[in-house]
Amino acid sequence: MKAKKKILVTSALPYANGPIHLGHLVEYIQTDIWVRFNKSIGNTVVYICADDAHGTPIMLKAKEQGISPEELISITKKEHEKDFKKFFINFDKYSSTNSEKNKEFCENIFNKLNKSGHISQKTISQFYDEKEKMFLPDRYIKGTCPKCNAEDQYGDSCESCGATYSPTELINPTSVLSGTKPKTKDTNHFFFNLKNFKNYLIKWTKENNLQPAIKNKLDEWLNDNLNDWDITRDAPYFGFLIPNEKAKYFYVWMDAPIGYIAAFEEYSKENSELIGIWENENIGEIYHFIGKDIAYFHALFWPSILNGSGYRTPTGIFCHGFLTVDGKKMSKSRGTFIKASDYLKHLDPEYLRYYFASKLNDGIEDIDLNFEDFTKKINSDLVGKLINLASRCSSFLEKNSNFTLSEKLENDEKFKDFINQANEVEKYYSNRKFSNAISKIMQMTDNANQYINQEKPWSLKDIKKIQQISTQGLNYFRSLAILLSPIMPDLFEKTKIIFNEKNLKWENCFSPLLNKKIKKFTVLKTRIKDESIEQLKSNLINNSESSSKEESKMQNEIEYDIFSKTEIRIGEIITAEEIDGADKLLKLSVDIGDLGEREIFAGIKKFYEAKNLIGSKVLVVVNLKPKKMKFGTSSGMVLAADSEGEIIVIEANNKIKNGSRVK
Ligand code: 2FM
Ligand code: ZN
Repeated sequence: MKAKKKILVTSALPYANGPIHLGHLVEYIQTDIWVRFNKSIGNTVVYICADDAHGTPIMLKAKEQGISPEELISITKKEHEKDFKKFFINFDKYSSTNSEKNKEFCENIFNKLNKSGHISQKTISQFYDEKEKMFLPDRYIKGTCPKCNAEDQYGDSCESCGATYSPTELINPTSVLSGTKPKTKDTNHFFFNLKNFKNYLIKWTKENNLQPAIKNKLDEWLNDNLNDWDITRDAPYFGFLIPNEKAKYFYVWMDAPIGYIAAFEEYSKENSELIGIWENENIGEIYHFIGKDIAYFHALFWPSILNGSGYRTPTGIFCHGFLTVDGKKMSKSRGTFIKASDYLKHLDPEYLRYYFASKLNDGIEDIDLNFEDFTKKINSDLVGKLINLASRCSSFLEKNSNFTLSEKLENDEKFKDFINQANEVEKYYSNRKFSNAISKIMQMTDNANQYINQEKPWSLKDIKKIQQISTQGLNYFRSLAILLSPIMPDLFEKTKIIFNEKNLKWENCFSPLLNKKIKKFTVLKTRIKDESIEQLKSNLINNSESSSKEESKMQNEIEYDIFSKTEIRIGEIITAEEIDGADKLLKLSVDIGDLGEREIFAGIKKFYEAKNLIGSKVLVVVNLKPKKMKFGTSSGMVLAADSEGEIIVIEANNKIKNGSRVK
């Protein structure tokens, strides 16, 4: 028997400011399949992940929602965990980078790096938004590309010509936050001296488990300048303070990977497997599953940080490509951005696991979710071949021997030949060639169906023979369900129930189950109906309509008949108050004649002093559904218009009676 392995596995930590979408799921499904397979064959595996909780976008999103970043990340974490569970992603520990443990590790690692001379300080000049009173991350600055003159490009790279540059090189830079022209301002930052690790990285790249494409990329980076890496961000920022600093924080990309160690440490509080693995390479292997876009962080900075602070480095990094939907990049405005929760409203999560597995291999090519292909694979292969095999054989067994499996198979040799192919499946799983594993399993399913078609149990009279053939067919199914179990854990659970085998294990696929009463076959999986796909797609289009404002100025048209449903009346603002803790909102009480007085929250605090609004006659949408907000319920909307970034409340002629209709 082969010696059992000990493995720590991670998936990249999703940011805590948005929902899990199908693009994320490529990675979590890929990792989960690999972890489940390794556990099945008896390896000790611990699968760790966490929410990536820090950074400017999370801070700004919380502010926009009028909640604290801690509240935002706690809400998001619950949503993420719920989605993962529904897709059967089975983490052994799911933490957050905003944990006490992670803070401890970050400070500790920073201090060690500092002591060993791997940290330096430099004064740099950065763009500062005077209106928002903050330094601007590259992604919050837009302008004209200095290389190709394409307009509206981000501060770090040009989507048009692919050039990378520093934001100060942009022509006509503008702050995305306030629309103002940012000023440059000096600030002292801490840098990690990546150069010190050049030799170590050359050795690490050679000795470790990297895909050829990633290895080539790394060689390229290593031959280039290894610039010092800026690991600080100035306040305001949501993150951990740098030791002995008052307004300087660890950059999110510094504390996020350290979160892998912290989450494992939290796991180790209650579990003894793999303890010491981050310190001692002999304890086991460490693998990071990531998207190819973040290889730079994981293959250059991360091993260097670990090495520089006395930790062992990962055994391998497994990158995957991006997901496209029907051949297009996922995008909200195109209706191809599919949230995990939207998918779940219409389709079985295991179908996505199966489909992704059928497309995934050990390379970094992008994979496409093509709905036609998806439906075909599920309906003809999974349901039409595999599930159908079980349901046919089960009904022969029911009719002829009341669900009792025969004492021996109809043909032992055939079963042996069939299951010998499982070794190949194991090899494919082990090497992350899941598409090959699925092809092999489907080829075996074809063999099984051919067997039934040749034996034609429906045409026989000999009950014993029919029982043996059905037993053989059902055992084919049982073994196939075991072989598919890393991909379809729920189908596997249901299979265990049918065969009355609570402890069904991987190795049981090699020996048939005989002479036992089994349960009636329930419908395990059904075909995908075209309507389900259509409903999902129309759901996405609705989402895209509500989000198109963010992505495109041209796509936010509404139909006339929708607008004509709005009922607008004249109201008089009777009271206007500021609200404690709300940056944007004012609380208004508005007299709308025969409709009485309404409490309305309006996001105009930045532009109006509350007292100046009292007595104004304004236009009020009165048939909006009341909206529950953090500070109360808003019953209507006071109309205001955007005038080049300023919000102006639309006033009505003072002589008009309160409550008058606006046509
Ligand atoms: O790219 C991302 O989505 C990051 N949140 C991944 C972090 S992985 C690790 F380094 F923590
Ligand atoms: Zn350009």
